[in-house]
Amino acid sequence: MSRYLLGIDHGTTSSRAILLSPQGEIVDMVQQEFPQHYPHAGWVEHQPDDLWQSVRYCCTTLLSRNQLSGEDIIALGIGNQRETTLIWDKDTGEPIYNAIVWQDRRTAAYCQKLAAEDPQLAARLQSKTGLLLDPYFCASKIYWILNNVQGAKVQAMQGKLLFGTVETYLLWKLTGGKYHCTDATNASRTLLFNIHTQQWDEELLVLFDIPPAMLPGVCDNAAEFGHTQHELLGGPVPILAMAGDQQAGLIGQCCFEPGMAKSTYGTGCFLMLNTGKQALLSQHRLLTTVGYRLQGEVTYALEGSIFMAGATIQWLRDGLNLIQQAGESEALAKEVGIDHGVLLVPAFTGLGAPYWDPDARGAILGLTRDTGIREIVSAGLQAVCYQSKDLQKSMQADGVRPTDWRVDGGMVANDWLMQFLADMLGANVRRSSIAETTALGVAYLAGLQAGVFQSLEHIAALWQQDKLFTPKMAKAQRDRLYANWQQGVKRIQTRNP
Ligand code: G3P
Repeated sequence: MSRYLLGIDHGTTSSRAILLSPQGEIVDMVQQEFPQHYPHAGWVEHQPDDLWQSVRYCCTTLLSRNQLSGEDIIALGIGNQRETTLIWDKDTGEPIYNAIVWQDRRTAAYCQKLAAEDPQLAARLQSKTGLLLDPYFCASKIYWILNNVQGAKVQAMQGKLLFGTVETYLLWKLTGGKYHCTDATNASRTLLFNIHTQQWDEELLVLFDIPPAMLPGVCDNAAEFGHTQHELLGGPVPILAMAGDQQAGLIGQCCFEPGMAKSTYGTGCFLMLNTGKQALLSQHRLLTTVGYRLQGEVTYALEGSIFMAGATIQWLRDGLNLIQQAGESEALAKEVGIDHGVLLVPAFTGLGAPYWDPDARGAILGLTRDTGIREIVSAGLQAVCYQSKDLQKSMQADGVRPTDWRVDGGMVANDWLMQFLADMLGANVRRSSIAETTALGVAYLAGLQAGVFQSLEHIAALWQQDKLFTPKMAKAQRDRLYANWQQGVKRIQTRNP
């Protein structure tokens, strides 16, 4: 009988589960979207049960429609939207507030207050955690929940509450409350974890007023995380891997050598460059993060995080109803071309790297009487590429420049977008044959731990290119378009980096 690995990719807008054969082929995939909640401007929440039910649905549907049970699964791995913050009651398992999503900006003023009180703080935070003082990360979100949910602070101090990002919560649910653990990649996104010592940092816990007892244990990315409860999948399945989705993508794209980079175009866009054993601290507002930790050995990465990529096209579809399906954007952009003069700056939830401006808001510039749907849709796609260019420039200023970008995520099916990306970057863009790199990455890790794959070299040999996009645009045109973008960004910035 065939046996498979199960990879879970729990993203910001949907969950997915894949079945991976020991030969590295995806046999089947199930996906389910879940609701987003925007209670106030700049706030983004998820209902914890929606997250859990969507993962559960994907796994059970995947097994049942392939006539499999838990016994046919060698092991599973969990990849997840990072930084999204949950706090739940240790005894009842009930969350005390909705999950505050990574995109949420409600703690911007609090972060600014901390920065104003201590001008050295940002530098200290960066040297310990590799991150910046920004509402993106968990620390200020935990602070907000503990100080805004009635009684939470006292309960936390009494050791009655647990904190976790989504993988920790899913692990807790999958194991029936037996395991309260995270992994080094997810821990490295909390603003509470020292990426050099690989420990929770006492000074930062005091700063954000967070009782240490709430925090999960931190494991390698491939480790023994217990078993699923028997009744969930029809037999206990070993959970052998967890990783933040972007780091899982780095693994799924087999970027195991220093200098290799991947960029994922999902809800947001995340560029990640493997820097090996060196935790390269950026001087240009990129993040230093744990790429992966295997057998206690850390491989670091430099990351550029953009908050709106596919989410911009989702907004054009669902918010403005300009298109019915995201896939229509390619034909519209092809019709109108690149030089239409309209610029969309998608700062819906502020600007991420390298601007880190949580108060900036989006804009559409350059409208004329003949502007139509095509121009706006094209501008939405182009914005993703201009932002990638911003990240490339920062990396270059930090002394590293990936020449090849391995790309994945829902948006990369759009050939027009990929060609414009290659043109804007002046670099090769390689689309991998498997777009589901997050689920793939955690399935690989689970397979590594289970002995299905012998080594990272074994996994690297499985990578396949679907299509290569090479730059064709003249430098003068690229420079002109990009300068126009930079002007547009300046007009909405509320602070100078
Ligand atoms: O840091 C947030 C990131 O992990 C979200 O990823 O794929 O849901 O856009 P995605």
